[in-house]
Amino acid sequence: MISVQPEAEERRAHKRAVRQAFDRAAASYDAAAALQREVSARLADFVLAHAAGPTPRRILDGGCGTGHGQAALARLWPQAERIALDFAPAMLAHLPAGAAARLCGDLESLPLADASLDIVWSSLALQWCEPATALREIARVLMPGGRAWIATLGPETLWELRAAFAAVDDDRHVISFHPLTHWLESAAYAGLDCSAQDGSRVYAQATDLKRLLRDIKQIGAHRTGPGRRRKPLGRAAWSRLESAYERHRLPDGSLPASYDLILLCLEKPA
Ligand SMILES: C[S@@+](CC[C@H](N)C(=O)[O-])C[C@H]1O[C@@H](n2cnc3c(N)ncnc32)[C@H](O)[C@@H]1O
Repeated sequence: MISVQPEAEERRAHKRAVRQAFDRAAASYDAAAALQREVSARLADFVLAHAAGPTPRRILDGGCGTGHGQAALARLWPQAERIALDFAPAMLAHLPAGAAARLCGDLESLPLADASLDIVWSSLALQWCEPATALREIARVLMPGGRAWIATLGPETLWELRAAFAAVDDDRHVISFHPLTHWLESAAYAGLDCSAQDGSRVYAQATDLKRLLRDIKQIGAHRTGPGRRRKPLGRAAWSRLESAYERHRLPDGSLPASYDLILLCLEKPA
């Protein structure tokens, strides 16, 4: 009899739930993904500020979603062959025709040969992964001298929402994000050198909390992590949440949600 570690089983169930959430979100994703477009643009600027070296031949867009990164990749490296990978088939189905070769697969177990890529680009996908596992895979598929350009999220992401939920109950309602130090340690452990890093804030805004949460949900970002499912909030709890969030309302009348953006350039030593 094979005994499955409860933690491993919980992680698998969580991954399945994240994939299903993104599959369900695919049709509405583009309309709610202003923040993703902004992050792709910042990652492209980061590449322009730090990239040098030979023209890459093959690039992976890891966790490509509906393909927001494709236009930036085509501008940055027009000659390169592009592979767009995502584990949610419905996301891949929305990729513009002819943009890239589509590959359904997991960032934590890439269906690609060792040393087969010059560049890995990954914008807002790796925060759903275990950093050590995903970076080990990225290191494996990169050629020596290859680089990974990564945009991911740090622990201050959605802090307003976390603080507002704390006024409601002690449950964990908002996903936790790894700090920069954890990414850097995992990169070093995977054999990748960090040759550039940057941090900044990006904000989503909506007129009210319902819309803000709907946008977070529509981009599939509402899973909290492994563990039991929570019951929906009752009316009294919702109203406590709304009033706790009100203290963040900006002078222009909008409610913000902060995203703590981490940009990394990780290099596989030549
Ligand atoms: C927030 S979206 C970002 C998509 C795109 N990079 C963009 O900038 O719009 C995150 C994407 O990562 C994918 N994803 C999350 N975890 C993944 C994993 N372990 N393997 C492959 N794709 C994953 C999701 O299915 C989703 O399409």
